[in-house]
Amino acid sequence: MQDVSDYYSAIQLRADRWSSLRERTRSFARNPQGKRAAQVKQEIHDLFESLEVIEPYWAFPGMQAFDHIRRQFDHGSYDDVAYAVHRATRGLTTGAYRRRHIPLDRDGADSEDHDDEAMQSLESRALQKPYFEVLIVDDVNEHQERWIRNNITSMRRAEDAFTYEPVVVPSLQDALIAVLFNHNIQAIIVRPGLRMESKFDLPLLHRYINQAGSDEDLDAMEPENYGPELCRLVAKVRPELDAYLVTERSVEAIAGMDLGICRRVFYNQEDFLELHLNILRGVQARFKTPFFTALKEYSKQPTGVFHAMPISRGKSISRSHWIQDMGAFYGPNIFLAETSATSGGLDSLLEPHGPIKEAQELASRAFGSRQTFFATNGTSTCNKIVVQALVRPGDIVLVDRDCHKSHHYGMVLAGAQVRYIDSYPLNEYSMYGAVPLSEIKEKLLKLKAAGKLDQVRMLLLTNCTFDGIVYNVERVMEECLAIKPDLIFLWDEAWFAFARFGPVYRQRTGMNAANVLRARLKSEAHAKAWEAQQAELDGADHETLINTRLIPPPDARVRVYTTQSTHKTLTSLRQGSMIHVNDQDFKGEVEQSFHEAYMTHTSTSPNYQIIASLDVGRRQVELEGFEFVQRQLEAAMSMRRAIATHPLLAKYFKVLTSGDMIPEAHRETGVESYYSQEQGWTDYFECWEKDEFVLDPTRVTLAVGGTGWDGDTFKTKILMDRYGIQINKTSRNTVLFMTNIGTTRSSVAYLIEVLVEIAKSLDELDGDASLMEKRAFENRVKNLMHDLPPLPDFSRFHPAFEADPVTGEGDIRSAFFLSYDEANCDYLELNGSVRQAMESGREVVSASFIIPYPPGFPILVPGQVVSEEILAFMRALDVNEIHGYRPDLGLRVFTTEALNGLVEKKTAQTAS
Ligand SMILES: Cc1ncc(COP(=O)(O)O)c(C=O)c1O
Repeated sequence: MQDVSDYYSAIQLRADRWSSLRERTRSFARNPQGKRAAQVKQEIHDLFESLEVIEPYWAFPGMQAFDHIRRQFDHGSYDDVAYAVHRATRGLTTGAYRRRHIPLDRDGADSEDHDDEAMQSLESRALQKPYFEVLIVDDVNEHQERWIRNNITSMRRAEDAFTYEPVVVPSLQDALIAVLFNHNIQAIIVRPGLRMESKFDLPLLHRYINQAGSDEDLDAMEPENYGPELCRLVAKVRPELDAYLVTERSVEAIAGMDLGICRRVFYNQEDFLELHLNILRGVQARFKTPFFTALKEYSKQPTGVFHAMPISRGKSISRSHWIQDMGAFYGPNIFLAETSATSGGLDSLLEPHGPIKEAQELASRAFGSRQTFFATNGTSTCNKIVVQALVRPGDIVLVDRDCHKSHHYGMVLAGAQVRYIDSYPLNEYSMYGAVPLSEIKEKLLKLKAAGKLDQVRMLLLTNCTFDGIVYNVERVMEECLAIKPDLIFLWDEAWFAFARFGPVYRQRTGMNAANVLRARLKSEAHAKAWEAQQAELDGADHETLINTRLIPPPDARVRVYTTQSTHKTLTSLRQGSMIHVNDQDFKGEVEQSFHEAYMTHTSTSPNYQIIASLDVGRRQVELEGFEFVQRQLEAAMSMRRAIATHPLLAKYFKVLTSGDMIPEAHRETGVESYYSQEQGWTDYFECWEKDEFVLDPTRVTLAVGGTGWDGDTFKTKILMDRYGIQINKTSRNTVLFMTNIGTTRSSVAYLIEVLVEIAKSLDELDGDASLMEKRAFENRVKNLMHDLPPLPDFSRFHPAFEADPVTGEGDIRSAFFLSYDEANCDYLELNGSVRQAMESGREVVSASFIIPYPPGFPILVPGQVVSEEILAFMRALDVNEIHGYRPDLGLRVFTTEALNGLVEKKTAQTAS
C-alpha cells in the first residue's frame, strides 16, 4: 500500500484505496485461513480506516453503506464484503452511481453489463439525467441526518431535469474540504447548526482548508457568522457553486454581510420543496446553452435553402456521386446545423441580440468578466481586435518582445509606438522566461521622466507563456498603476482559459485580479496605505521606486482585457476563442472603437458550430471545470513524480522544475519544485500566492539533451514516428508535454512506459558501443547541454523609426510599409555579406519579421537593428522553419539610401 504522503491528491488516494480494498477483500474471502491471512486482514482494516476519513465527503457509496460493509467484515461475512466492495469500486470507476441506484448486496444485484459508460451509445448517455451532489452543512445526530435526507429525497419529481444526492457534513472546515475534494458538489445548503472544526486531521485533506482561508481567518470568526462566512469562503475557491443559507437570524443581521455565492437566504428550516426547486434552477442556469439549443432547434426545421451555402442541410453532399464519404464521416447533424441564417431563432455574431448575446453573457459570468465576446478565428484575431480597439496611432505600448506574432502585427495595424521589453533568458534551455516587473517599472519610470506618460496606453504580456511561466498578475497591475494610474492591460491568456477553474490558478488570471483590484481600490484601508506610502516615497529615486512594492492610488482605473484560445485548453472546436473585458471605462470610452475593431477582423460568415461549441464549453466549465482541472493537475503531477523518481529515466531525462525555469530572484518563497524525492510534495499554494513567477505544473518540460538527440529530432523521429506521441513545442534540448483536461492517468502511464523503453534502448546501445561511438555520444550531449548560443535581447529601432533613444519606442508601422517598395530593400547573406556590411560600419536594419519556429516569436522586427548577438543566435539555430527568412536570398534589410532618406525627412520635420 502506497504511503499517504506519496499522493498529490486525495482523489487518487481514494481511487487507489478502493481498488486495493477490492483486491484484498477478494483474496481474503477466497482463503480466509491462508498463510498470509492475518496480514491481509490487517491490511483490510488499515484500508477501511484510511477510507473512513475520506468517504464522509461523498454520496456514493455513502457512510451508511460503508459502515455496514465494515460491520459485515467484523462479523466474518467475507464473501458479502468482497461482493459489496467489488460493486462499490466498480460503481466508482465506471461512474454508474451517477446513473442509477447501485445495490451492494447480492439480493439487490443486477447486471453489470450496462455499468460501463463506454459501452453506451452517445445518444443514450445524452438522454440520461445529469447527476450531482448537494452538500448539507449541519451538525446533526444520526436521527436528524436521516430526517434531512428523507425530506430532500422525497422532493424528487419525474419531471426534474437533474438528479442529486445529499452529502451531510457537520462543520465549516469539513464543508471547505468537501467542496474542494468532491467535484460532484454543485450546491451547498448551509444550515444554522454548523460548527467550526473537522474531527479528521488528514493533512492531505487539510491542505484544502488552507486554500480557502488561513487559520487566523477561521479563528477570528464568530460562531453565529459561520454560515455567512462559509458562503463567502466558498465563493473564493469555487465561485460557480450555488449556496443556500438557512438561518434563524433576523433579516437585518444578515443584510449587510458578504454572502459570497449565496443565491437565497431561507428563514424556514423545513421549506424543502422551495430548496429543491431552487437547487434545480441554480444548476439549470449553468446548464443552459442558449445558442447551442437554438442551433439544435433550427436544424430540426424543414428549411428550403435559397442562400449561398450549398453544404447547408447536406444538399451538395447527398446529391453527390463523389463526396459521399464526407457525409458518412461527419454524420447528418453537422450539415443540418450549417447555416448562415441569422433568423429563425438564431442570431448574428456581428450584431448579437438573441441567443449569441445571451451565450456571451453567460460566458462573462463564468469567466468573471464584465463583457465577453466570442471569436471564431482564434486568439490571433482577438489580439488584433483588442489592440485596434484601444491603441491609437502614436500611442506608446509596452510589449513583451517574445509575445505571439499577432500582437506585433496588431502594432503595425494600429500604428503604435512600440517599446519592446525583454523576458529573462534561459540560455541553457534555449528559451525565454517572462518579463520581470523591475524591467517594466524601469521602462515606465523612464517614460515618466521624459514627460511621456500621457502617451503610454497599454502593457501587453503573455500569461502564461508557452513554457508555463505565470505572472503575479495582481502585483504587476498594482505596481504599474502606481506609476501610470490609467494604464490598460492586455493579458494574452491563449494558454490559460482553464485557469479560472482551479482555485489556486484563478488568482493569477487577469479577470480575477481585476475584480480583486476593483474591490481593493475602494477600501478605506487601501486609501490609508497609499497615503502613507506617498509620504514615505516623496522624492524617491528610480532605484527606490523599483525596489519598493508600489501601491496604486485609490482613483486608479482598472482596465483589463484578456484573450483566450478556448480551443487550446477547454472544450471548443478549433479557433473558438474569447475576449474578456473588465474595463471601468469600456462603456464610456471604448465600446464604439471596440465594435469597429470587431467588425474589422470578424468574418461576416462566422462558423456557427464554433460558436455553439463555445457555448457548450462554457456550460462544461461551470459544471465540471473544477473537476477537469483537478484531474489534469493530478495527471501532470504524477508525471512529474514518476519521471523524477525513476532511476533509469533520471539518467537521460530531467523534468524542469520552477528552480530550473525561474531564477531565484523571482521566487520569493524559495520553492524549487512541486515534488522532490527528499521532501515529497510541496504545498504549492504559498508560492502561487507570493512569488513573482510560478511554473504552471500542467506543462511539463523535459530536458532531453542527455539522450544525444535535439528537441526536434526527439519529437519527430522518436516520439512521433516510433510511438505515435504528439507534442507541439521543442527547444534545442527540451520537449514540452502539455497535459490538458482530457489527459488521463493511463495516457501518462503510457508516456512513462515509452520513456523507460527509450532509456533502456539507450542503455543497451551504450553497452554495445565502441570507444569512438561513446565519445561521439558524449560530444553530442555536451553540444546540446552546454554549447548553446545566448539568447539575444531586443537590440533597438534604427533612428529612422525610433522616436526617442532614451525611452526606446519605435514606429514599427512605417518600417513595415517601407518594405512594400522593393527598391527600399536588399538581401544580405547570413554567412557572408551581412558580416561584411557590419564590419564596414553599416547599420544593418531588418525589413521584415524574422520568426524562427520554434520558439515562434520574432527575433527581428521591421526597423530593428541587427546586432552581433542576433546574428550569432541565427547562425546557431538549427530549426527548419524561420519565417521571413529566405535561405536562397538571405536576410531582407533596408538599403542605406532608404534609411538615410527617412532620417533626413525626420530631421527636417523636427526642425520645422
Ligand atoms: C501566446 C499566444 N497567443 C496567441 C496565440 C494564437 O492563438 P490562436 O491559435 O487561437 O489564434 C498563440 C498560439 O499559439 C499563442 O501561443
